Amino acid sequence: MRDIPFHQDFVWGAATASYQIEGAAREDGRGESVWDRFCRTPGKVRNGDTGDIACDHYHRYRDDIELMRELNLKAYRFSVAWPRVLPEGRGRINEKGLDFYDRLVDCLLEAGIEPYATLYHWDLPQVLEDEGGWPVRGTIDAFAEFSEAVARRLGDRVRHWITHNEPWCAAWLGYGLGEHAPGRRSRRDALAACHNLLLSHGRAVEILRAECPEAEVGITLNPEQVYAASDSPADAAAARSVDGFKNRWFLDPLFHGTYPSDMIEEFGEDVPTVLDGDMDLISAPIDLLGVNTYSRALIEADPETGRPIHVRPMASLYTHMGWEVYPDGLEDLLVRLHEDYGPKQLYVTENGSSYTDVLTHDRKVLDPERTEYLQAHIEACARAMARGAPLSGYFAWSLLDNFEWAFGYQMRFGIVYVDYPSLERIPKASARWYASFIQAQSEMPASRTA
Ligand code: GCO
Repeated sequence: MRDIPFHQDFVWGAATASYQIEGAAREDGRGESVWDRFCRTPGKVRNGDTGDIACDHYHRYRDDIELMRELNLKAYRFSVAWPRVLPEGRGRINEKGLDFYDRLVDCLLEAGIEPYATLYHWDLPQVLEDEGGWPVRGTIDAFAEFSEAVARRLGDRVRHWITHNEPWCAAWLGYGLGEHAPGRRSRRDALAACHNLLLSHGRAVEILRAECPEAEVGITLNPEQVYAASDSPADAAAARSVDGFKNRWFLDPLFHGTYPSDMIEEFGEDVPTVLDGDMDLISAPIDLLGVNTYSRALIEADPETGRPIHVRPMASLYTHMGWEVYPDGLEDLLVRLHEDYGPKQLYVTENGSSYTDVLTHDRKVLDPERTEYLQAHIEACARAMARGAPLSGYFAWSLLDNFEWAFGYQMRFGIVYVDYPSLERIPKASARWYASFIQAQSEMPASRTA
């Protein structure tokens, strides 16, 4: 690890999201989000878990920031809860909601930690869902109001903005597959949601450019490197379809201003109507592309139907989520994004692993698998940079164990353990490793860094 070519201003951080950590779900005028509702719908979230308390970060943010400082983090990626800022989705601004993020940002800056703000990490105000949610274009205007309120309040201090987190998940898990809030199941709605999420990204970019002209602005996707299981034409076609569904359907419009024609054909009449000006808005230049990636997709074609099947190699390691550990996937993905789309900067805005952590009798959490995962993926970043990928930073997912959506609190992704009954934070061995790695990087002589 000593010879890794990270430049001195490479950004080392950790990420979280509002609903997953904040708690205080009914405090200071926060409105209901689709996740509050979804968690209360029987059978949707494991164990009936909710974000009502979560990590109680809303009250403990000062201690959490102190912990980030102890862990040598240079940056922190968080998201802003829309229902705190606009409890009715649009219209009336709840100043108390904005006050929280104001205090958070000030406290981060005092600790020397750079804030990276994500506007939308899936907590849509329920009132907007009741009006049709992301499949209707009216939600775009509401998102523009939200973006403006946040940019006006925080834009003098926040220099890095991410409009959306993983619109693929928001659209497909939320509206297509029903696994996430609001739990709808319609391909047509999912595709309409994709388009409106991308349009709302474009609107937010315009607003952020106007409100904070110095800031760097971008979007975070969850692309995954797709490999065909063999060089047969059938496997290659199946892999290309998965790549179109997960990757190109978002990357092509953002960087080339078009939807991929093979996928337009595949989605057929469910493809939403594209109005004049839509593609220009979506493809307005951005300063950074955020990449959340955890694994890879290895695909073969079903011999009968030709449809894609995910292959799970016997010899591979898997995390508690059942995700294959495959660091080369991150390397290849970053290089591919650079070669095919040419973003000005790439950031790994999330990468990490869930394991069944155990708190020992002397209150330690030994998680060698997570440390190995982190180290291997950071090495993959270094190889991608050596191959030309313009990578500016890496954010571990996640700072804290937290509410893992439909899996509730069962899945632990934190580098810091959260003892939920007491809410105590206990840095895992992986956090100690990450802290010393960051320290060693900052002490590296400049001549050895690229
Ligand atoms: C994601 C999410 C996180 C998840 C993480 C692990 O953006 O998918 O940002 O909220 O917790 O990816 O599944």
